[in-house]
Amino acid sequence: MIAKGSSIFQLNVLLVVTSVIFATNKYTSTISALKIKCIEKEREALLNQKREFKDYNGRFSSWRADDEHKDCCLWQGVGCDNVTGHIIKLDIGGGHDCFSAPVSGRINNSLLKLRHLKYLDLSCNGFIYQLPEFIGSFTKLKYLNLSNNFFDGEIPTHLANLTELETLDLSGRENTLHSRNLGWLCQFHKLRYLDLTNVNLTMATDWLELVHKLPLIEKVSMSECSLPEVANILRSSLMNSSRACLSTLGLSGNSLFIFNIPLVVQLQQQPQRH
Ligand SMILES: *[C@@H]1O[C@H](CO)[C@@H](O)[C@H](O)[C@H]1NC(C)=O
Ligand SMILES: *[C@@H]1O[C@H](CO)[C@@H](O)[C@H](O)[C@H]1NC(C)=O
Ligand SMILES: *[C@@H]1O[C@H](CO)[C@@H](O)[C@H](O)[C@H]1NC(C)=O
Ligand SMILES: *[C@@H]1O[C@H](CO)[C@@H](O)[C@H](O)[C@H]1NC(C)=O
Ligand SMILES: *[C@@H]1O[C@H](CO)[C@@H](O)[C@H](O)[C@H]1NC(C)=O
Ligand SMILES: *[C@@H]1O[C@H](CO)[C@@H](O)[C@H](O)[C@H]1NC(C)=O
Repeated sequence: MIAKGSSIFQLNVLLVVTSVIFATNKYTSTISALKIKCIEKEREALLNQKREFKDYNGRFSSWRADDEHKDCCLWQGVGCDNVTGHIIKLDIGGGHDCFSAPVSGRINNSLLKLRHLKYLDLSCNGFIYQLPEFIGSFTKLKYLNLSNNFFDGEIPTHLANLTELETLDLSGRENTLHSRNLGWLCQFHKLRYLDLTNVNLTMATDWLELVHKLPLIEKVSMSECSLPEVANILRSSLMNSSRACLSTLGLSGNSLFIFNIPLVVQLQQQPQRH
């Protein structure tokens, strides 16, 4: 009798325990489903881009489609808005491996889905072909670093739409990227840092005027750009102007040098910004 009673008791305990475990499982899986912030379309865009790369050094091992790794907000180099779940940061710069980055694929069209990006670093990835025009659709970007790739052709004027930019680095490994004029810069009212090193600007006779018009610009690098000469009068009047915040203008490696513009012009930094 006692034995039977205790086994019924054990059975009950077992039932209670199982249902508690079951409920807990259900509870935690609901919680983790709620916690997944990643937006399906944005995840697919990243997976498409991953296919484009040929060598990874394991950098993208967390970018996986299986259930366990579904939350792309937790992937390496990816940052999401903690309320909307949209990807706002994509930091897949090659960093310390920069110079060993193999020539790899192109920027995949599906990245266009990441319209909420504020920070995009694709530096040092060995991208080839032209810069896609759709980069101009990331209108919320504050930071854009495409440096140390092998992009070629004309810089798309669509970049003009990126009016929130504070930092723009398009410096190349080779002189393959060019821009006929820098008109696309003129709406960059928030730009503080501009690097166009190795971009061929032979035709861009407006470079000094435009750089000077950027109200908050602090640092500009235009080394090895084959910059065209600027008329003396225009040059000295621009350089004398007190409006600019510009503190560093790097112009090394241009033939201008022989026309008496110093290698790096250190201009007086103006404390007021208006
Ligand atoms: C983008 O990725 C998709 C899926 O991998 C592929 O079908 C498409 O051809 C790629 N587009 C470009 C322009 O490479
Ligand atoms: C969401 O992010 C903002 C800044 O990006 C931060 O201030 C805030 O604390 C975060 N909220 C939560 C719930 O993590
Ligand atoms: C852009 O990326 C390169 C390589 O990762 C880095 O050296 C450089 O400082 C970055 N540029 C800016 C403006 O942050
Ligand atoms: C700038 O953005 C607007 C609206 O998003 C778009 O209609 C226009 O074509 C874009 N212009 C460029 C040059 O990309
Ligand atoms: C720059 O582009 C011009 C044509 O626009 C070309 O003649 C010149 O060779 C290029 N310079 C370099 C260093 O590639
Ligand atoms: C610029 O300033 C220098 C000396 O500071 C002066 O000699 C020169 O005439 C000025 N140029 C213009 C165009 O104002």
